[in-house]
Amino acid sequence: METMKRRSWAEPFKIKSVEPLRMTTREEREATIREAGYNTFLLKSKDVYIDLLTDSGTNAMSDYQWAGMMLGDEAYAGSENYYNLEAKVQEYYGYKYLVPTHQGRGAENLISHILIKPGQYVPGNMYFTTTRLHQELAGGTFVDVIIDEAHDAQIEHPFKGNVDLNKFQALIDRVGAEKVAYITIGATVNMAGGQPISMENLRSVYQLASKNKIKVVFDATRAMENAFFIKKREKGYENKTIKEILREMCSYSDAATMSGKKDLLVNIGGFLALNDYEVFEEARNMVVVYEGLHTYGGLAGRDMEAMARGIEEACQFDHLQARIGQVEYVGNRLIELGVPIVRPVGGHAIFLDAKKFYPQLEQLKFPAQTLAAELYLDSGIRAMERGIVSAGLNKETGDHYYPKLELVRLTFPRRVYTQAHCDVTVESVYEVWNNRASVKGLTMVYEPKYLRFFQARFEKL
Ligand code: F0G
Repeated sequence: METMKRRSWAEPFKIKSVEPLRMTTREEREATIREAGYNTFLLKSKDVYIDLLTDSGTNAMSDYQWAGMMLGDEAYAGSENYYNLEAKVQEYYGYKYLVPTHQGRGAENLISHILIKPGQYVPGNMYFTTTRLHQELAGGTFVDVIIDEAHDAQIEHPFKGNVDLNKFQALIDRVGAEKVAYITIGATVNMAGGQPISMENLRSVYQLASKNKIKVVFDATRAMENAFFIKKREKGYENKTIKEILREMCSYSDAATMSGKKDLLVNIGGFLALNDYEVFEEARNMVVVYEGLHTYGGLAGRDMEAMARGIEEACQFDHLQARIGQVEYVGNRLIELGVPIVRPVGGHAIFLDAKKFYPQLEQLKFPAQTLAAELYLDSGIRAMERGIVSAGLNKETGDHYYPKLELVRLTFPRRVYTQAHCDVTVESVYEVWNNRASVKGLTMVYEPKYLRFFQARFEKL
């Protein structure tokens, strides 16, 4: 008898509790997306069928995490759950000090204010929206030092998240090391398509930074997913555990900002982790102003417990294999159908190449925004624009940034959707791909000042 190929990425869990989904008609969706100004962020969740807007805070918690919620110690000061979280962060990430925050951007706010002096530069391996904004609000200027390959959706490269060391060195030469506040290093670089950074590159960046007395701040938001790619793709790591790889990754940095809402399988939470006692002192003092006392940082005790338990679960190889395997499954099916997506498939999402969908649309007709609206119209699936709207305005010139990548992100929450949901998603994307020729684009009719993609409104052309 022929042996059947093992579906090695099948989910290492079964479903104990379910939440019903609502299907809508095309007429209903035409009305709801118009009311939402053709911005998927402004849709009501009740009008969405499969929600692939983000993997942030949308994860399903385990029975172990829910049990931990009942052990929430809701003391204002010195909650037991804070100490549990601190111990897990030290054990898994390896930093000495912990400051909890309500989510990732709370940590970004603290570190940007502490380390950036107005007029300084902050290089990074591509920007993330909230990270760059906090740097700018603190008086810094972001400089992109990611490798060129990251800006090309079609080039295959195992570590498209890598820093171009020549670009980093060139910045130091141009402005002087004392004008570089620190370098931010993102894991599985979100805006590049969820592309990992290699251990070798992390090590080299840290060496170059340390030589110039520049601190490295690691955005560890999806670092465990990055560790999985290192295990799969980088020589010498195939037999190491995810935990060992994660520890080594973090060892090449001085501090980490963290959105627990991704890797760590919770609905809310984040932290700043540090090795430098003086910076910790300042962060611990400042967190009281913006988030809450340093032993809760804007979180309930139960949220800290769920995150502490999430660290243990998220670092399991079987979990990561199923999580990344699901994304890869959707990506491979779309590639087979000839739909243009960012290659190789990233860790948390599929990124549709909107420029290839709609070559008839110039960038100011918002191809990616249009594509996200078309997908919702077709099936009620909600995705997110990651193109010119997300890139925002250049604070110096007042003009738009014109990113090379004009993408729509189909982001997969962890442990939430089944393979059948994945198939429906593939079918709907394919339908939208086949109807691409008649699409005319959008015009922006309302533009908010900060992070405009969240609340901007559009009309059909
Ligand atoms: N860094 C990265 C790489 C992120 O992807 C996010 C959030 C943050 C920082 C900020 O964390 O939301 O907890 O304040 N990304 C979400 C997303 C919003 O949909 O990609 P936060």
